[in-house]
Amino acid sequence: MTNHSAQHDVLVIGSGAAGLTAALELATRLRVLVLAKGSLTGGSTAWAQGGIAAVLDAGDTFENHIRDTMVAGAGLNDRDAVEFVITRAPESIDRLCELGVPFNRESGDLHLTREGGHSHRRIVHVDDATGWAVQEALLKAAEANPNITMLGGRSAIDFITDRHREKFSAAGRVWGVYALNEETGHVESHTARATVLAAGGAGRVYQFSTAPRGATGDGIAMGWRAGARVSNMEMMQFHPTCLYNLEVKNFLITEAVRGEGGRLFNPVTGERYMEKYDPERMELAPRDVVARANDDQIKRYGLDYVHLDISHQPADFVKGHFPTIYEKLMGLGIDMTKEPIPVVPAQHYTCGGVVVDLNARTDLPGLWAAGECTESGLHGANRLASNSLLECFVYGEAAADDILARWDDLEPVPAILPWDESRVTDSDEEVVIKQNWTEIRRFMWNYVGIVRTTKRLERAAHRIELLKQEIEDYYGAFRVTTDLIELRNLLQAAELIVKSALHRKESRGLHYTMDYPETDEVPKDTVLVP
Ligand code: FAD
Ligand code: SIN
Repeated sequence: MTNHSAQHDVLVIGSGAAGLTAALELATRLRVLVLAKGSLTGGSTAWAQGGIAAVLDAGDTFENHIRDTMVAGAGLNDRDAVEFVITRAPESIDRLCELGVPFNRESGDLHLTREGGHSHRRIVHVDDATGWAVQEALLKAAEANPNITMLGGRSAIDFITDRHREKFSAAGRVWGVYALNEETGHVESHTARATVLAAGGAGRVYQFSTAPRGATGDGIAMGWRAGARVSNMEMMQFHPTCLYNLEVKNFLITEAVRGEGGRLFNPVTGERYMEKYDPERMELAPRDVVARANDDQIKRYGLDYVHLDISHQPADFVKGHFPTIYEKLMGLGIDMTKEPIPVVPAQHYTCGGVVVDLNARTDLPGLWAAGECTESGLHGANRLASNSLLECFVYGEAAADDILARWDDLEPVPAILPWDESRVTDSDEEVVIKQNWTEIRRFMWNYVGIVRTTKRLERAAHRIELLKQEIEDYYGAFRVTTDLIELRNLLQAAELIVKSALHRKESRGLHYTMDYPETDEVPKDTVLVP
């Protein structure tokens, strides 16, 4: 047995918007360790483009934002969670301004852009690269804080629970994580009185996704394996407009392009087809509606892509609003001020996840969670654009506040067994990992995508069963690597998605099945219990 261990007051898994928000608040009184897989800027936060939704305009109201969120979420949202987040949005924006996020302004006021499903302009942004500015500001503040230690290159494997105590107990309290040090190859035990899970989504379970490489559902899978309930995993959001390019596979074209006038056309017929699918809201219908329309056009006409066109707007306006996208496309030979952009739908956001309450508490004592790895009730059956960074700030803070309030009652960490790697060897068959990873992502895209049927879902479930044993055998026999940890989690996430999708016998929001096209009168969460 090897022993590489360290103890902290609070452990945060993830250095994106949710994790760093929690860490900064906790560090007002406690010593915090933040762990992240790979680089500290490797999560989705740094990739966010459009912005953050908040009611800041005098003509807008909380009630409008709440209604838009619940319309997008097809009624599956938890009204308490929606109110909780939306009424705290202006404070979250104030705090980000204090941290130095350089949001765009017009005559001194924050500039508000528009996105699908929003009845008002209410998206604050930093050009078309909001996430990078937010990530930078949070990271700078965390790195400057003497109470926060940041460790990148650590892949959390599983929670340390009562089962790993020297005095075994089946109670299930969480005491930290076992994590692979990606540089040394050793597994370390990081223990703490409280753990905050903020490990992001599971987008990479699909072949085409806008999410970064590390979005493999690790947090959701770890939570599930430790005994936490997971909810609404069938609600996978597909973004309607990911760039179609043979070399650049996952570059998002922000919804704000449609918010600022971008239109969708069939490249063969020239038809502005949203008229047929949602004549009132057109290109600004919620994401599920536009993504299904794009998918339908592509399948019906045998297309590789559809066209998103904003070239009717003045060139300076386009370049001024979308400098990052403009530059990127120019590098690929596409001038968006003069010609349409080829786009396809791609997986974008994981609405489901580990169940949390308004204090960000999970089912497991000692474990709080925030951000994309959770199901808080905010998004329901479909996330409203730019509500997710907001959820990270509000729930990151809620987790920290709850831990601070209960700190004196949290028990000290007991003696924990170190990770046992005495019975494993180095793998000599890395090809197994690559093959299985590709296979999962392909069948998830083909069988569990935008439009589903029971038969396709059952096919996916069958593939998952076959892979399960193979991957568990491999995991049991060989020394862990980040690729292997991710593959195991990817399969777990796929299983949770397919199980949830098979369980829902209706179509609602992001879950559309040809076998049950109607929507039930009463919305009901899909809750899976380990
Ligand atoms: P992330 O930012 O994804 O961070 C996850 C962290 O967990 C990372 O540090 C990662 O390294 C770490 N981690 C993961 N697994 C492990 C492990 N096993 N061990 C240790 N660490 C681990 N939302 C909006 O509101 N507005 C937008 O404009 C917007 N645009 C987007 C554009 C793109 C291209 C994408 C992909 C998403 C966008 N979203 C947007 C969604 C939003 O960015 C995410 O939902 C949000 O950033 C998630 O933040 P998070 O803190 O939960 O997770
Ligand atoms: C986008 O900019 O289109 C993404 C916004 C979001 O995912 O909320």
